[in-house]
Amino acid sequence: MKELVRELNQYAKEYYVWDQPSVTDAEYDQKYRQLEQLEAAYPEEVQSDSPTQRVGDVLDTQLEKVVFDRPMLSLGDVFSRKELEDWLDNVEDQLDEQCVYVCELKIDGLSVSLQYERGRLVRAATRGDGHMGEDITHNVKTIPSVPLHLQEPLSLEVRGEIYMPKEAFVRLNQEREEKGLATFANPRNSAAGSIRQLDPKVTAKRKLNVFLYTGVLGEELGIKSQLDLLTQYPKWGFRVNPLYRLCQTKEEIWQFIEEIQNKRHQLDYDIDGIVVKVNRFNDQETLGYTVKVPKWAIAYKFPAEQVQTTLKEIEWTVGRTGVVTPTAVMEPVLLAGSMVQRASLHNMDLIEAKDIRLNDQVMIHKAGDIIPEVVKVLPDYRTKDSKPYTKPIHCPTCQSLLVHLEEEVALRCINPFCPAQAKERLNHFVSRQAMNISGVGPKLMEQLYNQGLVTTPSDLYHLEEDQLMSLNKIQEKKAHKVVEAIEASKKNSLERLLFGLGIRHVGSKAARDVARYLGKMSDIQAADKETLAQIEGIGEIIADSLVTYFANPSVQHLLQEFKQDGLNMTYLGASSEEIAAVASYFQGKTVVLTGKLEHYTRQEAKQRIESQGGKVTGSVSAHTDVVVSGKEAGSKLTKAQHLGIPILNESEMIQYLEGSLPS
Ligand code: IVH
Repeated sequence: MKELVRELNQYAKEYYVWDQPSVTDAEYDQKYRQLEQLEAAYPEEVQSDSPTQRVGDVLDTQLEKVVFDRPMLSLGDVFSRKELEDWLDNVEDQLDEQCVYVCELKIDGLSVSLQYERGRLVRAATRGDGHMGEDITHNVKTIPSVPLHLQEPLSLEVRGEIYMPKEAFVRLNQEREEKGLATFANPRNSAAGSIRQLDPKVTAKRKLNVFLYTGVLGEELGIKSQLDLLTQYPKWGFRVNPLYRLCQTKEEIWQFIEEIQNKRHQLDYDIDGIVVKVNRFNDQETLGYTVKVPKWAIAYKFPAEQVQTTLKEIEWTVGRTGVVTPTAVMEPVLLAGSMVQRASLHNMDLIEAKDIRLNDQVMIHKAGDIIPEVVKVLPDYRTKDSKPYTKPIHCPTCQSLLVHLEEEVALRCINPFCPAQAKERLNHFVSRQAMNISGVGPKLMEQLYNQGLVTTPSDLYHLEEDQLMSLNKIQEKKAHKVVEAIEASKKNSLERLLFGLGIRHVGSKAARDVARYLGKMSDIQAADKETLAQIEGIGEIIADSLVTYFANPSVQHLLQEFKQDGLNMTYLGASSEEIAAVASYFQGKTVVLTGKLEHYTRQEAKQRIESQGGKVTGSVSAHTDVVVSGKEAGSKLTKAQHLGIPILNESEMIQYLEGSLPS
């Protein structure tokens, strides 16, 4: 087992730290499985540095604070060649000898400190305010390129940057969008969010990585310069960014900056500048520090990238609620590493505020290095006949008059029969959070609608396989699956149908709250504003919207049809697969409640935990993942403590249930 651990760690280092694997993935996997089997057979022999031990314990409280012996400093920054050269002049003035610099990439992530004692990773922490950070050891252990054990029994602190590769960021956001969760603005934020998780299993899925570039190193380690450090680190197993360069002159430094700037978008991680460091530690000491930053290093920040292009057209699209939103269609240009030809203009107010006109030359950038936006127009390029853009008067789809409701920035098509809205409403009805009818995506819906097969949600329930097969590219198998999925959706619990109706202001949470509280569609239809507004989580606006919606005779007709079609109209509690989709601390955990709770009855707490994917059992055993301990807890608590099971108090449980702690 020791031999396997040694080999696997060596392979991991070759792969993750040096980027030079010597074995295939399959060979690695085969050895990994062999080790897993041995460990299962001889659990008492599991080595602490075994690669299987990379997932640590779930924390049951908030992150611990860590105080640094030596503060984690930040960097001063400059934004132009001139400012950079002034800084270099100043450094040269203070040093006697010719100075050498190391130029490195400024990784746009979050700083981390890794403390090793006698070769073992004992603590990892975020930077916090530089003096006090947060303990993230349990999560950092899941980053494969961070060594848990060093080959030599060294004691040192290494520091660097944790980041999320761009690709992982894009994928994570796609997943979150599909689940209806808020997306992260940029890879940096998602790295920060991921590393502060209490549950390392979540972090482990987030594909974080690290580059190390500094440290608190004793003299005995013999490192005398930044270059020494960068060459020694990989030998110890610490991952270093390979794109650094030793430079002597201003020209060399500037050349490096330009080179990197030109290829920064090809890198698979975000950088926001170049760090220039005085190489020799002796010289660094001479230059010293201000309170916040070293005087021997500076960050040159890249200007936010912008490119010029022509705005050819403003396209207006109609959403499900009738909101009509503008998109700029531009001459395609390469921006921050990708071809861009569309950018959201958000609303008419923005077009007016920026005085954006057709055929304008515009500057565009990417918000968070990802989302294209129009920054400004260049009026000097306008021809004489250029006129301010006038807002559309008619709906681009149904041609009915658009309205600008007073309290809104949006333009709206208020024609209830607008085909664009109808299609979007249908797409919403079948969507995953609503009726969850798989196989009916926007493309199929477009065909169904255009052929007149489905124009209202209830039409879906009369669709036949033959009709589907008459459509383009729909084979028998697919047609069968679609009809099955539609049939299955009839059994959905009420909140899905309620949400699927697309009632203004009624999101999936409000739909669930109302459905859970009132239980039956007929009771929701009959409820007055007061009744609705007393439901927890439902305010006046939602209550009003529901009342208005259900007063509409065509809605009553639709619901009548649903009933005849055999759709379930009652709240069934959350079904198991819905619960499994909830992102919660309790997801998949076996929980034991003990002691007196103050804010909930046992039953309520149980229901809430179960609605978030937890299983509540009566007695503490080795299978228990977490114990919630109220007042005057007795033997169950003692047993949990004895078994080392995480324990939450009531307020922590509530915070987790409400999602106010990271799950
Ligand atoms: S050196 C005492 N090198 O940038 C000097 N920092 O804006 C400590 N950063 O807090 C920093 N890449 O988190 C250094 N190659 C690099 C860096 C780097 C990114 C971050 C670091 C620092 C921040 C300052």
